[in-house]
Amino acid sequence: MGKRIITTEITEEDRKIENTLRPQMLSDYIGQKKAKENLKVYIDAAKQRNETLDHVLFYGPPGLGKTTLASIIANEMSVNMKVTSGPAIEKPGDMAAILNNLQEGDVLFVDEIHRLNRQVEELLYPAMEDYAIDIVIGKGATAKSIRLDLPKFTLVGATTRAGMLTPPLRDRFGVVNRLEFYTTEELKEIICRSAEVFRVEINEEGALELARRSRGTPRLANRLLKRVRDFAQVKYDGRITKEVADFALDILEVDKLGLDNTDREILLTMIEKFGGGPVGIETVATTIGEDAGTIEEVYEPYLVQNGLILRTPRGRVVSDLGYKHFGLHQEKLV
Ligand SMILES: Nc1ncnc2c1ncn2[C@@H]1O[C@H](COP(=O)(O)OP(=O)(O)O)[C@@H](O)[C@H]1O
Ligand SMILES: [Mg+2]
Repeated sequence: MGKRIITTEITEEDRKIENTLRPQMLSDYIGQKKAKENLKVYIDAAKQRNETLDHVLFYGPPGLGKTTLASIIANEMSVNMKVTSGPAIEKPGDMAAILNNLQEGDVLFVDEIHRLNRQVEELLYPAMEDYAIDIVIGKGATAKSIRLDLPKFTLVGATTRAGMLTPPLRDRFGVVNRLEFYTTEELKEIICRSAEVFRVEINEEGALELARRSRGTPRLANRLLKRVRDFAQVKYDGRITKEVADFALDILEVDKLGLDNTDREILLTMIEKFGGGPVGIETVATTIGEDAGTIEEVYEPYLVQNGLILRTPRGRVVSDLGYKHFGLHQEKLV
């Protein structure tokens, strides 16, 4: 599978722009009303009582703003943030060292927290609960365990796979927030804000067109904005209008619903070769020469979420909406 322009996973291209585009404070953070209101209460309360914020978990698909919220928490609490991730910490000792180096009140951000290994995770239990860790000193008969007090800190965990968190870890988060896909209006606002940071002119219709094709995901909205900006500069007068956005996104082969060529190939194969289904995912995969697991995990979720494909016990079916997307309509047996 080649790299998709519409992937919501972080790419090298994103890393270069994301830090400058990240909102710094809760008030600049667009959308996610529920999570934002919830966080604001806890942050205000902790500040008023001069306490450390409770541990916070964010979960949801890539590119929706989990890392951004973690750094906003640190900014709002006026503390430092230390960043690490589940797969980066191999041994309990590595985690112990990180914890021991925190300052009172600091945020420790653990990305992909579902990928922590068992021993590291177990070290976190007392760390989160009692701000202490138990370390074993020496070996064999002379080994003894001592308890080491830690500074009070806030663990902010992020995961795309909440279902893979163990219950004991999950239960130790006092604040749990699920992030949702963004509405077109919210994405439009994010795009306008990013355009200001990029110092590129964009009008309402241009921003709206980009928003529609961004699959509910700010990361993708920003990436597409950056690409469209290049077209605006080279092929037009630098301003992003609907015409420019349409022109550029058509060349980039991101269609009106944010589908790319493989998404369309999946739908068209189901329609043209299998009468719209029901058809098994393996059969579709073989027909278009793609791996079944990849289709199921990478391509299908967005198509299902947007009601283009329906999952039925007998297999996958293209919906009326899916047909309409190609200007086709389903032959119904009367
Ligand atoms: N609510 C938001 N408002 C404005 N920009 C956002 C928002 N959420 C995310 N972004 C932008 O999208 C990018 C990806 O967000 P990030 O926090 O890295 O996502 P995640 O960690 O969930 O994968 C960020 O660089 C940021 O610029
Ligand atoms: Mg992230």
